[in-house]
Amino acid sequence: MLNQKQLDSFNDNGYLVIEDFIDSDKRESLIDRAAHLIEGFDPNSHRTIFTTDEQERSSDEYFVSSANNVSFFFEKGAIDIDGKFCVPKQQSINKIGHAQHILDPVYKSVIEHLRLDSLSKQLGMDKPRAIQSMHIFKQPRIGGEVGLHQDSTFLYTEPMSCIGFWFALEDASIENGCLQAIPGGHNIALKKRFYMDKDNEAQFEVLDSSDYPEGQLEMLEVKAGTMIILHGQLPHYSDANISPRSRQALSVHIVDGNCHYPKDNWLQTELT
Ligand code: FE2
Repeated sequence: MLNQKQLDSFNDNGYLVIEDFIDSDKRESLIDRAAHLIEGFDPNSHRTIFTTDEQERSSDEYFVSSANNVSFFFEKGAIDIDGKFCVPKQQSINKIGHAQHILDPVYKSVIEHLRLDSLSKQLGMDKPRAIQSMHIFKQPRIGGEVGLHQDSTFLYTEPMSCIGFWFALEDASIENGCLQAIPGGHNIALKKRFYMDKDNEAQFEVLDSSDYPEGQLEMLEVKAGTMIILHGQLPHYSDANISPRSRQALSVHIVDGNCHYPKDNWLQTELT
């Protein structure tokens, strides 16, 4: 349970860091499960790369259908210009998403034990609904940068309700691409919304064209086991990983089931 000081800190900063939240057994079970799932995945079945580049993401059917699947996305640096893999399969994956919290028994069990519904209610949500999960790898030397963004862009509700729960499965430092966030940045407007247009192509709708506040990013260097709670409008970022160490993390996003969830949001799921 969160105490008043923690709630105040979350409301002031838009994020909250809690150490020693997920124990080593659970972290290892997720890391082992991900390795097992990757082992069973045929890397030649598709070559969907995850980047924050809107063109590549929006044109990809595999990405859109991942809302209801356990899907695998490659690191850009894992595949060379001729389409050949430059790293072993286990080090080629950027992330696994977006429905393992429902479809995979290991993720489902660990995530249920984290009691994110209780935490969400303490943070003011009426009807918490886990809408997506991601296992993020930040692979050694090729883990890509994730540009400054607000999670409500991708998980938009009216009114906005998204909360992100991010769990360090390994130590996260400046060297391997830890999270960075703008303290208090959750008070700015939502910049854009990712939606499906009438041709079923994903697009960004610009809601506020002003720039993010500059030069205020805080480095969130944390030990394995730490939970970081992120307000849906908090601008956050992570740098590329050029170190020899991966930076694995689990991320689960919750929205309020009592809020309106638009039918043109990119992520549509029948699973919950
Ligand atoms: Fe994010």
